[in-house]
Amino acid sequence: MNAVIDFIHTNRDRYVDELKAYLAIPSISALPEHAADVRQCAEWTAEEMRRIGLHDVVLHETPGHPIVYGEWLGAEGAPTILFYGHYDVQPVDPLDLWESPPFEATVRGGEIYARGAADDKGQVFMHFKAIEAHLRQTSKLPVNIKVVLEGEEEVGSDNLDAFINEHVELLAADVVVISDSPMFDRGVPSICYGLRGLTYFQIDLRGTKSDLHSGSFGGAVANPAFVLGQVLAQMKDRGGRVKIPGFYDAVRPLRDEERAEFQKLPFNEKQYRKVLGAPKLFGEKDYSTLERVWARPTFEVHGLLSGFTDDGAKTVIPAVAMAKVSMRLVPDQQPDVIAKLFEDYVRKVTPRTVELTVTRMHGGQPWMTDFDNPYVQAAARAVELGFGQRPVFNREGGSIPVVATFQQVLDLPSVLFGIGLPDEHAHAPNERLDLGNFHSGIIASAFLYDEIGRLSGEPAPTG
Ligand code: BES
Ligand code: ZN
Repeated sequence: MNAVIDFIHTNRDRYVDELKAYLAIPSISALPEHAADVRQCAEWTAEEMRRIGLHDVVLHETPGHPIVYGEWLGAEGAPTILFYGHYDVQPVDPLDLWESPPFEATVRGGEIYARGAADDKGQVFMHFKAIEAHLRQTSKLPVNIKVVLEGEEEVGSDNLDAFINEHVELLAADVVVISDSPMFDRGVPSICYGLRGLTYFQIDLRGTKSDLHSGSFGGAVANPAFVLGQVLAQMKDRGGRVKIPGFYDAVRPLRDEERAEFQKLPFNEKQYRKVLGAPKLFGEKDYSTLERVWARPTFEVHGLLSGFTDDGAKTVIPAVAMAKVSMRLVPDQQPDVIAKLFEDYVRKVTPRTVELTVTRMHGGQPWMTDFDNPYVQAAARAVELGFGQRPVFNREGGSIPVVATFQQVLDLPSVLFGIGLPDEHAHAPNERLDLGNFHSGIIASAFLYDEIGRLSGEPAPTG
């Protein structure tokens, strides 16, 4: 490993330059006008995979954006890692809040600022550089590796499950490795053993055929903007508990031992509140902040649209009102079950004075693993070698729906080793990645392959 690690140290500056080129491609999957950029990014990713020495690199076409696949299967007798990540990024609005252009990566104060720096190009690139270091210095990897990178993660991975179901043999492996989450805190590397699930909806209300003069008609009809407020107010009580009947039925209670583990984590609630700029934290009583974010389900409103919102005043009763909402789910809640409970409840609480349309959008299952599994422990050793510190084990509030698919369709455990930071503005203006963590993460990834390589795997696939 010495030669590999030396190589990584020597190439530190080159890595940053190359990452800048990757981050320059505006691969925004949500916006149709960026479809060509997403494809170009897939091609760039594939080229880079060939450059670092992966074999059989191909773009798998889907009805949406392509999936990039590549492999290196020369480690006979060693386990096979299925590495998953995404090359697409979130939209950049509001653009005026960026301190430097989102697709001109800029280094300031030891951090690289750009859309995708943390979520997820920077973390994917870290693995590329770890693979490259092994192959350059030793002409081999200590494990077999299959790389799957999708371009639709930020829009719900619509075509990924079908790809996995159709390529069960191609994707056969021993363990999934993913770096698409933050570490616990600055200076506190972590391995994530749980994610929340999700079910997402759009609610549309129509009151009348067209907007109305509020003087002539105010008092005669219901105002859909107002009704929407009333409907949303029915979703949670004042204490933050979701009121949808049956919503909590399948929630796996937190075990006392797990609560005690959460308690031991170096979490500074005051600091957390300050960083967020919230006057006061809020959520279900009887649960700590970490418990609420990691192990309790929620209902959130993402966006509201109705009526007149320009400068000045306009006396109008809007014809329509719209809300985007979602519920984050925890084990053992099932998205399909919760979706049905939600739809029934919205129909029940919406008055007949408006026309209601409920549209279900994407979602995914929650996930949790035991952290005494040997792959998770191997990752913990690798993180310690890369960061000089033993990682903590944490859960996360975000969702990576494919993790449950990998478990169910391919029967594979996942190791989530993320090197982002919670305050790196993923999905927001001024997204960034700490370059110290990026560098340590490359070393940790290089050790991860080595550590997993030492675990005995199935005989290497021949294909
Ligand atoms: N990298 C995140 C997932 C994540 C965020 C994991 C925070 C752990 C902590 C990923 O890119 C993402 O944003 N996922 C979406 C999934 C959704 C579109 C189904 C999410 O969580 O909103
Ligand atoms: Zn994301």
